[in-house]
Parts: sequence; C-alpha cells; structure tokens
Amino acid sequence: MYRFIASALVLLLTLYIGRIQASCDVCQSNGAACINQTAYHLCFGRTQPDTNQTFICTDGLVCTDQPVICFQRSETPASCGDTDSCGQCGPNYTFACTSRTTFAFCFGALTPTNVTGSCPTGYFCDASTKEICVTKTTDDSIVCHLD
Ligand SMILES: *[C@@H]1O[C@H](CO)[C@@H](O)[C@H](O)[C@H]1NC(C)=O
Ligand SMILES: *[C@@H]1O[C@H](CO)[C@@H](O)[C@H](O)[C@H]1NC(C)=O
Ligand SMILES: *[C@@H]1O[C@H](CO)[C@@H](O)[C@H](O)[C@H]1NC(C)=O
Ligand SMILES: *[C@@H]1O[C@H](CO)[C@@H](O)[C@H](O)[C@H]1NC(C)=O
Repeated sequence: MYRFIASALVLLLTLYIGRIQASCDVCQSNGAACINQTAYHLCFGRTQPDTNQTFICTDGLVCTDQPVICFQRSETPASCGDTDSCGQCGPNYTFACTSRTTFAFCFGALTPTNVTGSCPTGYFCDASTKEICVTKTTDDSIVCHLD
C-alpha cells in the first residue's frame, strides 16, 4: 500500500514537472548534468558541472531532470543521449522523430520517407502521440534526443 502511494506520488510529480529540459552537459534544476543516457556529473550549485567525478545510474534507470536524477526510462525520457527511437516509425507507422524537433512521415511503412517537417518553437517531437509535436512529456513519450 505504501509502495503504491509512493509510486503514485512520484508519478504525479513526474507529470507535474513533465517539462523537457533535455541537453547533455547542462546543469539541470536537479543539480545534475547528464553526459549520456546513463551517466552524469554534479553541479554543486554552480552553473558548470564538476567533471572530476562521474556517476552512473543503476541498471534500468536513465539520467533525467527529475529530482531523483536517475529515473525509469519508461516514465521519463533521458535528458541526453537517448537515440534508440530516432527514425523509428511510431506505433501506428504514421511518422518518426528524426531529432528532438524534426519528424518524417512513414505513410504506413517501417522506415521514414523523405517527407519531413519540423516542430514549432517550444515543441518537441514525441513519437507516441497523434499530435506529432507536443510541449509536455508523458509516461509513454518516445523522444529522439538528437539536436
Ligand atoms: C556514459 O558515460 C560513461 C562515463 O563516461 C561510460 O562509462 C558509459 O559507458 C557511457 N554510456 C553510454 C550508454 O554511452
Ligand atoms: C578537479 O580536480 C583538479 C585536480 O585535483 C582540481 O584542480 C580542480 O579544482 C577540480 N575541479 C573541481 C571543479 O573541483
Ligand atoms: C524523395 O525520394 C524520392 C525517391 O527517392 C525522390 O524522387 C524525391 O525527389 C525525394 N523528395 C525529396 C523532397 O527529397
Ligand atoms: C493508433 O491508432 C489507434 C486506432 O486507430 C488509435 O486509437 C491510437 O490513438 C493511435 N495512436 C497514435 C499514437 O496515433
């Protein structure tokens, strides 16, 4: 029961914070700067990460902008370096994200076509949505972390 409440709280917090702040080597609000999908440096209140120490997330977790830093990949996209979904036609083979802010139509095929577009300012491409470009992550977000 307690476990359930705790995970529900974490989920709510995630949805509430669910704003993407994705970049490598950038000090995030949680005090960490992700260097790739699973590793990070700490900022110790400064604007530049301290590169003398490198921390690695435990198995199954990725470096995020969430307060706990390392979080389940299924719930929050990694801040940096998560490129597995790039160019993968989403669930309905409608489109694929080709970078954080660009997409290509799939027209029912497994691989994207060369008919491409880009998201409006402030939006990012989420392959799990019908809207293509959105402003918030969800638990199901599929984001391509390429600039
Ligand atoms: C991330 O960086 C760390 C430290 O440099 C390295 O040990 C690890 O293999 C890297 N992971 C990936 C997925 O590139
Ligand atoms: C990193 O280590 C070097 C050598 O020990 C030291 O000179 C430097 O100040 C350290 N950097 C930070 C940000 O602590
Ligand atoms: C897309 O690819 C097709 C076939 O390879 C080509 O004929 C067409 O000119 C390309 N369109 C664009 C916009 O690059
Ligand atoms: C995929 O298609 C199903 C059935 O048409 C629809 O309910 C669902 O919302 C679609 N999902 C996406 C991500 O477009």
